[in-house]
Amino acid sequence: MSAPLVIAVDGPAAAGKGTLARRLAAHLGLPYLDTGLLYRATGRRVLDAGGDPADPAAAEAAARALAPEDLARPDLRAEEAAAAASKVAAIPAVRAALLDFQRRFGAARGAVLDGRDIGTVVFPDAPVKLFVTASPEVRAARRHAELLARGVPARLEDVAAEMAERDARDSARGVAPLRPAEDALILDTSALDAEAAFAAALALVESVRARGDSTGS
Ligand code: DC
Repeated sequence: MSAPLVIAVDGPAAAGKGTLARRLAAHLGLPYLDTGLLYRATGRRVLDAGGDPADPAAAEAAARALAPEDLARPDLRAEEAAAAASKVAAIPAVRAALLDFQRRFGAARGAVLDGRDIGTVVFPDAPVKLFVTASPEVRAARRHAELLARGVPARLEDVAAEMAERDARDSARGVAPLRPAEDALILDTSALDAEAAFAAALALVESVRARGDSTGS
C-alpha cells in the first residue's frame, strides 16, 4: 500500500483554489481542508475578545484555543474575518500552533488542503502541488460578484483595495509567505475556466499515480 495521497492547493484569495480543491477531493474520495478557515477562526476569536489580531500573545492564545465548532461559524466568510486572518497569519507562533492539526489531518487518510503554504511548509513533500492564481482584476471582480450574490453590499474599488492589502501582507510576511513551491504546477485561472483547471489538475494527479509515487508527507 502506498502512503496516503496529499494534494496541496495554494494561491491568493479568489483565484479559484477552493472550488478546485473541493472538486478534486470529491472526485478522488479524499478529505478536504480549507486551511484559511483556521486563520479566519483564530482572527475571529481575537476580535470577539476585543483584542487586536496583530497582537502575538492574543493571537497565539486564540489559535491554541480553537475548537471544531469555531470552524463552523457562519461569519468566517466576511471581510472582517478575512482581514483579521491575514494579520494573525503573519505571526509565527500562530502558524506553529496550527501546523500540527493540518499535518495530522493530511497524514491520516490523505487529503486535499488549500491555503497559502501547504506546498511550501505544511506538506513540502506532497506529490501533487498546485498554485492557483489569477490577475488582481479578475480576482477582485469574482469576490465582488460573490459578495453581491450573498446579498452583501460592496463596491468593486473597496474589494480590490482590501484584496491588494491582504495580498501584500500575505506575500511580504517573514514566515511562510504566499509563493508557489518550486515544484508546483501553476494554474492561472484568469484565462482558464473551472473545467479546464480541474482537467489540468486531474492530469497531474494521474501522472503522479502512473509513476507510482504518492508519498504524502
Ligand atoms: O484562503 P482564505 O482567504 O480563507 O485565507 C484567509 C487568510 O488566512 C489569508 O489572507 C492568509 C491566511 N492563510 C495563511 O496564511 N495560510 C494558509 N494556509 C491559509 C490562509
